[in-house]
Amino acid sequence: MEVIILPSSKEVGALAADAIEALVRNKPNAVLGLATGSSPLPIYDELARRHDEDGLSFTGVSGFALDEYVGLPAGHFESYREVIRREFTNRVDVAAENVHGPDGSTEDIAGACQHYEEAIAAAGGVDLQILGVGTNGHIGFNEPGSSLASRTRIKTLAEQTRVDNARFFDTIDQVPHHVVTQGLGTILDARHVVLVAFGEGKASAVRDFVEGPVSASCPATVLQFHPRATIIIDEAAASKLANAATYRHAYDNKPTWQGV
Ligand code: GLP
Repeated sequence: MEVIILPSSKEVGALAADAIEALVRNKPNAVLGLATGSSPLPIYDELARRHDEDGLSFTGVSGFALDEYVGLPAGHFESYREVIRREFTNRVDVAAENVHGPDGSTEDIAGACQHYEEAIAAAGGVDLQILGVGTNGHIGFNEPGSSLASRTRIKTLAEQTRVDNARFFDTIDQVPHHVVTQGLGTILDARHVVLVAFGEGKASAVRDFVEGPVSASCPATVLQFHPRATIIIDEAAASKLANAATYRHAYDNKPTWQGV
């Protein structure tokens, strides 16, 4: 696990965008794993800017969303499929048919989960998975207690997550109780994982998953098993790390040929 501490969310977004740009320029048919929430927004803003100003093209790229609410009708403003379109894929030139998300509006949720796993595999697997982290250490919607080997499946949201996400809805009663999410095992299959986090509110979760013992009680700790996990955070999110000086030293002395 590589931990990179930068001054602000803008620099975090730019560095994560560097990793994505390098991938897409090297592999024009790259497969991106796309996350929602506020954390990836600086990445999407930066990629949209590079598309507009530098001609960075995503025409061959496909994207797979991490998760989705169950029960929101297709096209609902807050469905993650719509959020990803609005915040990222519609702002660049990713082909609409190459943007995928788990289907949370079907009667056959189990079948849809299986189908989603198969679609990711058929695309060749995820090259780079963007992640945020919840205040309780969740990634995707893998709440505490999730199997570290889990695959795409239905989950019940922790009440804290419903409270955290209520800001996107008119009232908390509108936040669904159920979701479909890529599992922790699914996420581990991505060839590169880039997790971004900002602000003091994420400092405890970051400390726990970077430096704490691996445990299903803090699902993001599973990233300690990933051979290429890059954690890019701002100073506030890094403020509770015991070994921050070590991470800064390693990054300051990183061989340039390694890239992001
Ligand atoms: C949501 C999403 C996660 C996201 C997390 C943090 O519940 N399912 O993918 O990482 O919340 O969101 P934010 O980045 O807004 O803090």
